[in-house]
Amino acid sequence: MAVRRRSGVEQYHDRVAGIYDGIYSSSAYWELYWTVTWRHLKRFLPTHQPARVLDVGCGTGRWGLRIRKSGYGVDFLDISRKMLDQVQHALDGERYDGELIHASVDDLRDLPAERYDCIVGQGDPLGCAEHPKRALKGLTRLLKPGGVMIQSVDNRDAGYDHFLEKADIEGLERFVKDGRTEWLTDRPEERFPVSMFTPDGLTRLFERNGYEILSLIGKTVLPVRLLDRRDPNPLADRASFERLLRVEEKLHARPTALARAAHLEIAAKLPG
Ligand SMILES: C[S@@+](CC[C@H](N)C(=O)[O-])C[C@H]1O[C@@H](n2cnc3c(N)ncnc32)[C@H](O)[C@@H]1O
Repeated sequence: MAVRRRSGVEQYHDRVAGIYDGIYSSSAYWELYWTVTWRHLKRFLPTHQPARVLDVGCGTGRWGLRIRKSGYGVDFLDISRKMLDQVQHALDGERYDGELIHASVDDLRDLPAERYDCIVGQGDPLGCAEHPKRALKGLTRLLKPGGVMIQSVDNRDAGYDHFLEKADIEGLERFVKDGRTEWLTDRPEERFPVSMFTPDGLTRLFERNGYEILSLIGKTVLPVRLLDRRDPNPLADRASFERLLRVEEKLHARPTALARAAHLEIAAKLPG
């Protein structure tokens, strides 16, 4: 599938692909975040085999590679060729009969319908789409009846501070209305629009596409990042890590707690 002109989102991710994993490593916050993510998403992976999973907006393949290790057939899709190269590199030497698909979620028409039992999108590929509604529709076409979609997106209710820090009331008014903002990088050609979702907006979007909502959580509802400023970080201690994880999971589906989280993650199922 041809992606003709490299958009800002593609250029940015091509540039950071080689250093992407390093950007998010060595932080106790991210370790807890990834633990929460894996424990949440594995609850919704297919219980039957063989089952085929699509990792959409796969980046360097963090989730698809892990799902593959759990015994599923996994395809990887990303708008960034360089990100797919990272996945290819990780797969080198392994027998792999899946597909690395260079495409945008905005145009999935060339892909066969009802191919996947489960689609996973971590790190907001839906919000990076030019038209998130159209992107979800396109992804839904790829799911089999009874298939499960798991997507993590940016939380609009956590985005207000940014505008107040800049005293940008007009920007805030626009953002509250449409949830659109921009990914800020130093290079103007790499900037790209990002859509952020409210919990009810996200739920409605999935319901309109025929899904039954299985779960909606915030990641993370506890401000775990505060602990990264402490030396030593209490999360370095395994027992404290486990205790905090249990508190986070007790709270993370509580509707009033969702507003505290930078990201929302939804798991939803098609009928059939
Ligand atoms: C924040 S990264 C997350 C990567 C990976 N899923 C993870 O959690 O580590 C977002 C990924 O989505 C991809 N992406 C952004 N917009 C996309 C689009 N329109 N279509 C397909 N992939 C897209 C980016 O290239 C990038 O690899």
